[in-house]
Amino acid sequence: MNKVYIETYGCQMNVADTEVVFSILGKAGYVRCETIDEADIIMANTCSIRDNAEQRIWGRIDYFQTFKKHHPELIVGILGCMAERLKNALIESGKVDIVAGPDAYRSLPQMLSDCRSSGSQINVLLSREETYAEIEPVRLDRNGVSAFISIMRGCNNVCSYCIVPYTRGAERSRDWKSIIREACQCSQNGYKEITLLGQNVDSYQYEDMSFAGLLKAVAEAVPGVRIRFSTSNPQDISDEMLEVMASHDNICHHIHLPVQSGSDRILEKMRRRYTRQWFLDRVAKIRELIPDCAITTDVIAGFCSETEEDHKDTLRIFEEVSFDAAFMFYYSERPGTLAARKYPDDVDLATKTRRLEEIIALQNRLSLESNQRDLGKTFTVLVEGPSKKNPEELCGRNSQNKMCVWPDTVHKAGDLVTVKVLECTQATLLCQEVK
Ligand code: 5AD
Ligand code: SF4
Repeated sequence: MNKVYIETYGCQMNVADTEVVFSILGKAGYVRCETIDEADIIMANTCSIRDNAEQRIWGRIDYFQTFKKHHPELIVGILGCMAERLKNALIESGKVDIVAGPDAYRSLPQMLSDCRSSGSQINVLLSREETYAEIEPVRLDRNGVSAFISIMRGCNNVCSYCIVPYTRGAERSRDWKSIIREACQCSQNGYKEITLLGQNVDSYQYEDMSFAGLLKAVAEAVPGVRIRFSTSNPQDISDEMLEVMASHDNICHHIHLPVQSGSDRILEKMRRRYTRQWFLDRVAKIRELIPDCAITTDVIAGFCSETEEDHKDTLRIFEEVSFDAAFMFYYSERPGTLAARKYPDDVDLATKTRRLEEIIALQNRLSLESNQRDLGKTFTVLVEGPSKKNPEELCGRNSQNKMCVWPDTVHKAGDLVTVKVLECTQATLLCQEVK
């Protein structure tokens, strides 16, 4: 009765959290299973960022019920952001036995045994201190190449559209010494890439250590490992951090910098604490200090009261910056957020969809142009494994996080290979090995 299967939805932070959960459960005698039908406990680590993320998970919860028919003792658990947001409503659905919020994972072994003896259990207490600092995650990357390290939890920004501060609680930074220790362990275990994760990495602060200091310390502690980080906030990204990036060869040249909108009026309603001009100035600084740095973004189309002119401002900022890639969404009202309380969700769905499609069409062209600028260049690529389409080809990412594919039957996951770009699509650089 101790086999656990966990599905993970949402952001990279949730992937890192699932690794922490497996570690906590493993110490308590539970074992991980890879397929759902052998599980005694099925859990989903969930996301609440948009309504469709939650709808998808409700669909999975219904699906999990089908396993209860053959396995009446089966426990279904909901972890993460949706657990935190919906709390008792999940238990009241009659389909869920365990509800554990992002700061409640240490209590999971107790909850599981209490659940067996006395029925459904819920723990959605948020903490001001929990960072799971000393828990050694069970790494789920099967290639053993790339590891996530969570450096902070929660968020204090309270952007008006966003549910995260409510589901993940107040911001807290993890002790930098435990981060360095974990990075060194990853390196010793053969990992070749580390991604430092936080909702807003630039506001990392542990005693005297800022994010710039942490990034430098990690890069110098594991010089043979590539370092990435996510997510940056335009408001807080510091010159000092950019200088650390520029002066350390093993820090990848990629910054994920969510713009959300190109209109100052909308940015203010979103409670983003920067203007369009501030964003453009930050981009200029990044390009001055790290000329080949890729910049990717997130954007929300059709936020409350967005006019056609506001939307055009968004298209214009995309053109001006020429993002290398973007995650693009239309606005989904989240109950309890400032925007839901204060502003009507008044852009109709057809308009939201049309504006989103316009942004996607534009970004598709910008992504292609970005890749075309790389034709003829050479890059060092960290091999992830065989390409999806052709077993005679390998794939991996360059420093800018662009996917590269090239014919190769010699190298293996974790190797560094030098390639030259011959052709490209909007999503991929088609390359040749340079010997
Ligand atoms: N509706 C649509 N997109 C959202 N995001 C966050 N909240 C919402 C919402 N209510 C997007 C933002 C954020 C990304 C992770 O998800 O662009 O950067
Ligand atoms: Fe989803 Fe945000 Fe929670 Fe990540 S932090 S799981 S993106 S709601």
